[in-house]
Amino acid sequence: MKIRAAVLESFGAPLEVQELELAEPRAGEVLLRLMACGVCHTDLFTASGADPSGYSPTVLGHEGGGVVESVGEGVSSLAPGDHVVTLFSPQCRECEHCLDSRTNLCLAIREQQGLGHLPDGTTRLSRDGEEIRHFMGCSTFAEATVMPEIALAKVHPEAPLDRACLFACGLSTGLGAAMNTAKVAAGSTCVVFGAGMVGLGAVAGCRLQGAERIVCVDLSEERLELARGQGATETLVGGPDTVERITEMTGGFGADYTFEATGNVAVMRQAVESARMGWGLATMCGVAGKGETLDVVPRFLITGRRVAGSSFGGVKGRDQVPQFVERWLAGEIDVEPFVSHKLSLDEVNRGFELMEAQDGIRSVIDFG
Ligand SMILES: NC(=O)c1ccc[n+]([C@@H]2O[C@H](COP(=O)([O-])OP(=O)(O)OC[C@H]3O[C@@H](n4cnc5c(N)ncnc54)[C@H](O)[C@@H]3O)[C@@H](O)[C@H]2O)c1
Ligand SMILES: [Zn+2]
Ligand SMILES: [Zn+2]
Repeated sequence: MKIRAAVLESFGAPLEVQELELAEPRAGEVLLRLMACGVCHTDLFTASGADPSGYSPTVLGHEGGGVVESVGEGVSSLAPGDHVVTLFSPQCRECEHCLDSRTNLCLAIREQQGLGHLPDGTTRLSRDGEEIRHFMGCSTFAEATVMPEIALAKVHPEAPLDRACLFACGLSTGLGAAMNTAKVAAGSTCVVFGAGMVGLGAVAGCRLQGAERIVCVDLSEERLELARGQGATETLVGGPDTVERITEMTGGFGADYTFEATGNVAVMRQAVESARMGWGLATMCGVAGKGETLDVVPRFLITGRRVAGSSFGGVKGRDQVPQFVERWLAGEIDVEPFVSHKLSLDEVNRGFELMEAQDGIRSVIDFG
C-alpha cells in the first residue's frame, strides 16, 4: 500500500515527508495504522548524525500508538482492531532474558533491529524499488508501519492513543526505573535529577511506590513545577553544590534512591554522590555522549552505595506497558501535562525545533 512517511534522507537535514510503499506483513509481523506518535530526543539524535550507529534513508519515529489493520501468518496475540503501543524494546517471552525476571533486554531480534531490518533480514518499506530501512524496529513517523508481533503492547481500547503513545518510551522508562530497577521501598527518600519525560516518569514511579520524600532537581523552574504536579515533595535548581544541598536536606546522609535522567555525566556523578552511605542506590537512565565516562570515587562504593543502569526502565513491554496504561486510566498517573504540542506529520521538523528550544515535554504527531 502507499503511505506517507517522514524520511531521513541525509543527516543534519530536515526530514522529508514522502510517499512510500509499505508491503504486507509477513509471518510474525503486524501492519498497524498510526494514530499518534511522540517526537523524542532519540529521533533527533539520529537525524542530526550524532548517533554513530545511525543509517539513512530510514523512517524515524518510535513512540507510536496505533490500531492493528492486518496480521501475518502465525500471529496469535493480536488481531485487526486491537489498540497497540509500539516497543523499541521487544519481549519475545521465550529467550533467556525474557524468561529471567532480572532483565527486559530481549535477545530475539537485536541484531536485525540494529541494522534497520525486520527479523527476517528484509524491509517492508521501499521507494521505487529501493529499500528504506526501519528505525528502532518501529518507523512510526508514518501513516502505517509493519512491526514484529513481539514489539507491540496491546493496550486498553479506551485509552486515547495520543496519550498512550507516551508509554512507548520516556514515560515508561522513568516509571520503570523507580518501580523495576530500583524497586523503591515505601517511606523512602528519593532524588530525581532531570525533569524531562524520563525524570517526570521517575517522580511518578517513586510516588506510586509510596516514597515519602521525592526531591526533583532540574535547571528549569517551569519543569520543576511539572515535577511537583507528578508528586515531587521538594524541588531544587541544580548547580555545582547540589550534592551538598541534598546531603544537608537528608540529615547528612543522602537519599535512599537517586535517579539520573539528564544524560549529563557530571549529573550522573552527582546522583552517585547524593546516594546514602550504607545502601543508597543510584540508577542511571540518561544516555551519555559518545566516549563519555562516569567518574566514581571508589570510596563511595566501598561505603555501601550502588550504581545501576536502566534501559526502558527494565520494563518487559508487552506485559507491563498495558499495566501502566491501566493505572493511568484508573487516575494514578497524570499524563495530560506531558503533551505540550499536537502536530501533523508534515510538521514533524517543528517537533524537533520545539524540543531543541525545550518548549514543553512532548510534541505528539496526530494522524487524525
Ligand atoms: N535508558 C533509556 O532507556 C532511555 C529512554 C529514553 C530516554 N533516555 C535518556 O534519558 C535522558 C532524559 O531524557 P528526557 O527525554 O527526559 O530528556 P529532556 O531533555 O527532556 O530532560 C532532561 C532534563 O534534564 C535537565 N538538566 C540538564 N542539565 C541538568 C543539570 N545539570 N542538573 C539538573 N537537571 C539538568 C534539563 O533541564 C531537562 O529538563 C536522555 O539522556 C535520554 O537520551 C534513556
Ligand atoms: Zn523515545
Ligand atoms: Zn526475548
